[in-house]
Amino acid sequence: MSMYQDEFRRSIDHPEAFWAEQARRIPWFTPPTTILEYDEAGHARWFVDGELNLCHAALDHHVDQGRGDQPAILWDSPVTDSKRTLTFAEMRDQVARFAGALRSLGVEKGDRVVIYMPMVPEALVAMYACARLGAVHSVVFGGFAPHELAVRIEDAEPKVVVAASCGVEVDRVLPYKPIIDAAIEQSSYKPEACVVFQREQHRAELGTIDHDWAALVEKAEPADCVAVKGSDPLYVLYTSGTTGKPKGVVRDTGGYAVALTYSMDTIYDVAPGDVFFSASDVGWVVGHSYIVYAPLLRGCTTVVYEGKPVKTPDAGAFWRLISEYRVKSFFTAPTAFRAMKKEDPDAKLMAQYDISCLKALFLAGERLDPPTFHWLDDLMDVPVIDHWWQTETGWPIAANLQGLEPMPTKAGSATVPVPGFNVQVLDREGEPVAPMEQGSVVIKQPMPPGCLTGVWGDPKRFHSAYMAAFPGYYLTGDGGYFDEDGYLFIMGRTDDVINIAGHRLSTGEMEEVVGAHPAVAECAVIGIHDALKGQLPVGLVIPKDGFEGREADLEEELIALVREKIGPIACFKQVLVVDRLPKTRSGKILRKLLRNIADGKEFGVPSTIDDPASLQDVHEAMKERSVGTAHEARQV
Ligand code: COA
Ligand code: AMP
Repeated sequence: MSMYQDEFRRSIDHPEAFWAEQARRIPWFTPPTTILEYDEAGHARWFVDGELNLCHAALDHHVDQGRGDQPAILWDSPVTDSKRTLTFAEMRDQVARFAGALRSLGVEKGDRVVIYMPMVPEALVAMYACARLGAVHSVVFGGFAPHELAVRIEDAEPKVVVAASCGVEVDRVLPYKPIIDAAIEQSSYKPEACVVFQREQHRAELGTIDHDWAALVEKAEPADCVAVKGSDPLYVLYTSGTTGKPKGVVRDTGGYAVALTYSMDTIYDVAPGDVFFSASDVGWVVGHSYIVYAPLLRGCTTVVYEGKPVKTPDAGAFWRLISEYRVKSFFTAPTAFRAMKKEDPDAKLMAQYDISCLKALFLAGERLDPPTFHWLDDLMDVPVIDHWWQTETGWPIAANLQGLEPMPTKAGSATVPVPGFNVQVLDREGEPVAPMEQGSVVIKQPMPPGCLTGVWGDPKRFHSAYMAAFPGYYLTGDGGYFDEDGYLFIMGRTDDVINIAGHRLSTGEMEEVVGAHPAVAECAVIGIHDALKGQLPVGLVIPKDGFEGREADLEEELIALVREKIGPIACFKQVLVVDRLPKTRSGKILRKLLRNIADGKEFGVPSTIDDPASLQDVHEAMKERSVGTAHEARQV
């Protein structure tokens, strides 16, 4: 039996013994005696009676072990022309002081703190400070509009909001304070205080509930690490679901620490002292797990990059960073490489840097499309690894395990299930399908440590969204298949979630915004292929009877509305005014058909990223496939 097969079987056949062994690698205050138990609804809970503190495990522990002078954070910000290094000891001290500052505002164990910050070291300081106090952070990505922030504040009910005065996007300074003020105004729940980290690119004016970060820290007493239970929440991270309301994915502390530590060795093959660079954002799960927590838990150095793959200043940014910081393991989304390939198709900029330090390149966030895979595979001397995961799982479900048993790669495959994840492909009736047949990709219970333990404040939704479709299995929402060699291919979502530039967004959420416009009778938002971003949303809109305005004006208003309500990150820039939408005779929009049209399946040939279904094709197919008249559609 191969090393992988042996480890995988042990993890599935004897999960308690397997994870008990992994848990010994974590510096617990009190090691767990109960490894796995199930709650009333039958969901797995790991290490419930163990006691630890994640900040202690990632910072204080390493300082105690003699890593105090090793860089913990290498911050590189071409957009502000700045660089900074923070050692483990400096990071621990700054976190302890900021934790004290939060405590002075009344933040204690279990309280929520919303963090709205760009890629600055202080974002990590704020997250670790919450962990130090046992408070639960909820980081919101900077590209979201006030309404989205308000929805999250309303749901998480934070005692305090921590923000920066601005973000910097390539050459634009984006003031954050007006966004926060508008969000708090819109939310019926009001936080008690807001701490603002002032950046020199734009200083915010402070209001009555606002505190200046530096002034608050100056008078704060450093706070010690508070012991929490293994199953206590570390954070809530909101992600798009199929409805307008995002889901607050709850992450525990002990299971997460154990899973991340395991992944650093087994998947990424890094050891203490190595440099790990994940080019994502602290607002996404990749940022939480592989910029903020996993590298420091494992005693590695993490690169925190405030910039883009291109234009800051050119498509050589990543190569420079890998070379300059001697990065061993690099992780980003395929869309970033598609952007680089567009600007520098022969990767001439790569040749300018010595990247011999790099041992593997990891990609996730969306499917690694074969053309991008081949471009990278031809270019690089190191393995190019696609791996599949989601906000809910917190770490990879399938990967090519570089630290356990590297396998040959296959274009389009995320390789094999990671130990702990009993991945199956089921048909509609819940029966396993044969190799090469597509179906719903599910994970048999128990989910391994590190995965979501609930939806914040909504246990019913946790069950209905993930556990109800196939009893005993977690529904990933992705479709795919295993090939004859056991390689897993993830082909895309089976629901109305779309993936834009590696960011997950809900078409349902956009439809709610578009549908609320007074001139819109009916609408559907679909994702169509885009050569750079993978998918882009398109709004199909039927105006109300009697609409006499210009279609172009309506389109412009709808684009502005989505930008205002959801944010620029939705990339909602195309609207088609149509006569009809494909419907059942009872008037229900045929969403599956719309998805198929967008996927190109309706044209007989599945479109690929290189062969996108054009907007015109979508329009034509829409006309052909529509049942009912425009008048009937308006009656619904
Ligand atoms: N704060 C405010 N606005 C933001 C933002 C942030 N943190 N991030 C993005 N935006 C804005 C952008 O400025 C852009 O606005 P515009 O419509 O006014 O131009 C809009 O949101 C769309 O952003 P994006 O999709 O990122 O497009 P882009 O053209 O700026 O960059 C890529 C394209 C491919 C380079 C970029 O999306 C990228 O690097 N993606 C990698 C994704 C990633 O790391 N995913 C994490 C999972 S691993
Ligand atoms: P998010 O929760 O934002 O990380 O998005 C998770 C979704 O992105 C998954 O459910 C998939 O649809 C998609 N995804 C992420 N990584 C991959 C991958 N390597 N291959 C295919 N799809 C992926």
